[in-house]
Amino acid sequence: MTDVETPLPPVFARRDGFDPLPELERLRDERPVTKVDHHWGVETWLVTRYDDVRMILGDHKRFTSAPPPYFATADGEDGVEGTGWFIVYNPPAHTRLRRMLAAEFTKRRLARLEPRIEETVAAHLDEMERGGRSGHGAELVSQFALRLPMVVICELFGVSLESRTELLPLSSKFTDFSLPVEERRAASERAGAIMVEFVREQRANPGEGMLGMLIREHGDDLTDRELAGVADLMVQAGYETTMSMLSLGTLVLLRHPEHVPLLFAGERERDQVVEELLRYLSITHNLFPRVAQEDVTISGQLVRAGELLMCSPPLANRDERLGKDLDRFDPGRDPSGHLAFGHGIHHCIGAPLARLELQMALPALFRRFPGLRLAVPFEDIAWRPNANFYGLDALPVAW
Ligand code: HEM
Repeated sequence: MTDVETPLPPVFARRDGFDPLPELERLRDERPVTKVDHHWGVETWLVTRYDDVRMILGDHKRFTSAPPPYFATADGEDGVEGTGWFIVYNPPAHTRLRRMLAAEFTKRRLARLEPRIEETVAAHLDEMERGGRSGHGAELVSQFALRLPMVVICELFGVSLESRTELLPLSSKFTDFSLPVEERRAASERAGAIMVEFVREQRANPGEGMLGMLIREHGDDLTDRELAGVADLMVQAGYETTMSMLSLGTLVLLRHPEHVPLLFAGERERDQVVEELLRYLSITHNLFPRVAQEDVTISGQLVRAGELLMCSPPLANRDERLGKDLDRFDPGRDPSGHLAFGHGIHHCIGAPLARLELQMALPALFRRFPGLRLAVPFEDIAWRPNANFYGLDALPVAW
């Protein structure tokens, strides 16, 4: 590739908390496919328009998936496709693993988790309420948003209580870009080791969770490394994302209290609030790399075979090609078609689970605390911009 065309404004930062930076919006209008220098460490084409992002994600033959260049799990004798990280696999390896898991993520299968989600939500709200009696309110990220997704994922996999206690602080470490790389890597390696240990236990005695199911039904076709990788991927892909959506989603609703009653108006209205939050927040700053398999012109820009593309859900989901006035949070709009969960063969397998958690947790929170409010000025909110997913470090609330 030739020189970088554009010194990229931080793709992580957002204006006034929620909106893409104006420089990036201008890029989408003027140079929708732009060569940038990205934290992957190599030059990449940033793709910002809705139609282009959708086209690339939908065409996995011309735009294959690849691990980011720094990806540690790509090392190993059987290459990327032995790691279990099927988010960077291509067919047929991707199809094989995804098929094995798909049945566990249907709405019907997930319904069995509903009682546990309800119980966990209620227990954490009880705890918040008890703690808040002193008049100090609560910190919503650590006391609510962070715990629910971890409990749910562990429940889904059948991870033991002891491992959970250790995994929880580790997971917040390996996704925190403000920590030194070594510390993050050590946390990630320790989490990986816990998963390997967990796979060993499950091989000997398969439980009722997803890993037990994988071992019972496909155990001969999967190595321990793949099984541990699948579990690790699920924790990394499903934990911080849902946690961010819970805390940022609460904040958006605190800024737009007029929409809170929709959470209780009926399933359709409630689900539209959640869907619009997903679009509006688009917490995945950018997707895993795609590699062009042939020379191709996208929005007038020639991209050469072998070059990397980085698709931006936050920009695509605010593009007027998707709808009108998309910088406004409006749960009344048609929520379909957004790209917050990606698109095509890598469309988020955990989307039904994430939706279920948000659809259960947000109404429960606002029902329990009808007077919920921010306990600090909006300007003092601790944003968490430097991670893979947009989020909050803390959200002090009172009621
Ligand atoms: C894929 C977002 C929750 C597991 C993806 C992708 C996005 C995404 C954008 C596509 C990545 C790409 O194409 O490069 C989100 C958001 C979530 C969420 C915004 C929460 C609101 C979850 C949960 C789980 C999960 C709860 C699992 C328990 C995965 C996996 C993939 C994936 C395994 C890879 C799928 C494949 O390659 O076939 N997610 N996710 N995600 N997500 Fe999620």
